[in-house]
Amino acid sequence: MTQHKTHFEQLARANQAVTDTKHEQKEASYRLHYHFMAPTGWLNDPNGLIQHNGVYHLFYQFNPYSYHWGAMHWGHATSRDLVNWKHEPVALAPSEPYEYDETKSEMGCFSGSAVMNGDVMMLFYTGHLEGHDPKEVQAIATSTDGIHFTKHAANPVINGSPEGLSDEFRDPKVWKHGELWYMVVGTAVGHDGAVALYKSSNLIDWEYVGIAAKSDGTQGDMWECPDLFPLGDKYVLMTSPMNTDRGKSTVMVGSMDYDKGVFIPESQHEIDYGIDFYAAQTFEDEKGRRILFAWMDFPFTEFPSKTDKWSGAMTIPRELTLGKDGYVRSQPVPELTALRDNHMHDDKLVLSEDETHPLHADYPFQHSYELKCKWVLPENKADGKVGLHLRQSKDGSEQTTVFYDLATNEVIVDTTHAGKLSHKAVNKAGLLHKNDEVTFHIFVDTCSVEVFVNDGEATLSTRIYPDLASNDITLYTEGTGATAEYIDIWELKNAEMS
Ligand code: FRU
Repeated sequence: MTQHKTHFEQLARANQAVTDTKHEQKEASYRLHYHFMAPTGWLNDPNGLIQHNGVYHLFYQFNPYSYHWGAMHWGHATSRDLVNWKHEPVALAPSEPYEYDETKSEMGCFSGSAVMNGDVMMLFYTGHLEGHDPKEVQAIATSTDGIHFTKHAANPVINGSPEGLSDEFRDPKVWKHGELWYMVVGTAVGHDGAVALYKSSNLIDWEYVGIAAKSDGTQGDMWECPDLFPLGDKYVLMTSPMNTDRGKSTVMVGSMDYDKGVFIPESQHEIDYGIDFYAAQTFEDEKGRRILFAWMDFPFTEFPSKTDKWSGAMTIPRELTLGKDGYVRSQPVPELTALRDNHMHDDKLVLSEDETHPLHADYPFQHSYELKCKWVLPENKADGKVGLHLRQSKDGSEQTTVFYDLATNEVIVDTTHAGKLSHKAVNKAGLLHKNDEVTFHIFVDTCSVEVFVNDGEATLSTRIYPDLASNDITLYTEGTGATAEYIDIWELKNAEMS
């Protein structure tokens, strides 16, 4: 018979593990300079994103005992500017009969969200225990100081999935609309990913409304981490669908019918086209902005930093807006400009067809920088490529290539030569309109590249693990001439992670 430990004891044990091992990360290779990482161990999804009294809270899926996924806790950090973070004590640890059994490897406090109920911060999460019936339940923890959380006596507040739905039933996202609270939970109906909708007047008693949206048969067999929120004059449903080649960070733009309890999709695209972007979550901050963080990795891939006893990082925070064309735009939050240090600027670099233009003599930057450039192309040119090689070794054998392909109207991030340990992929984002210009806004860190195209029309996030000395930057053209109208590069300072 398994002995259940109290939440308090489990938290104390987890915090001790952090204290005992975090020093190992000081010298670990590939630690990022301005992306959020756990102080030690393993990190996956962002959870419980919220701002209260000026303070941003970032919770996350956390294993404090190992750099492998395992018994899930909620790690916690706070920030006043979305850039510099302070690690807080572990917020949630598995302790209850529906989430803890020390003989099992799949268990814990799975992903979820946060809301303020007056002065009380409430975390909604999934209690998961393999072999338990039900396997996944929804539970609550509360706090009056935003740091110390107590599990609610009414837990589990939703004890398993409704009749007819899969027992894969997780990642509650809660919000308020009018007088009522609503919750979406990721699940499936048969082999179709779906979101279950609930409502409540008091955040404790939840009534099942029905299936708010469901896969059309091609959109994945389980929808993880659903998020449903207003943006501009529309509603957006964002999910992380499993087992589909039609995307893994999908946004559907449409409308929400609260009377019928259904979301009506009008269009679908990917919020990020890079391989290392998953389990995104948004929140509305006190300025009214819709901010997104995602786990900058992908499940079931290699995590080369495990050699150094850590795994997982967040993307930079991004602000979502709705474009006039009805597409969701995603841009780095302006707070990140506080990291800018040495700056180099060039303009009107005219490249003829098949030219390479090395920048490294003028731009002796290391691996953490922000780069903006605009390419102007010959009018009505049908094909050719323009772009940059980043994180390039002196002999050119290692490089990550970001380019625009005129023939296909796609921006491509090619990591096939990004280094032995890198995730090899040709990441492609199709653009909406064909223009005679294209802009790239790129954030490079020790082991990541995030590309924002045409003011957030498309984004591509990837992890790369090149040699840390591979830092050359080369502009190039292929099959066309083009002008780099401007290029700006800022070295970025280290963000504080205390
Ligand atoms: C997504 C996910 C969630 C789950 C969590 C467990 O990456 O699988 O569905 O709650 O991770 O760590």
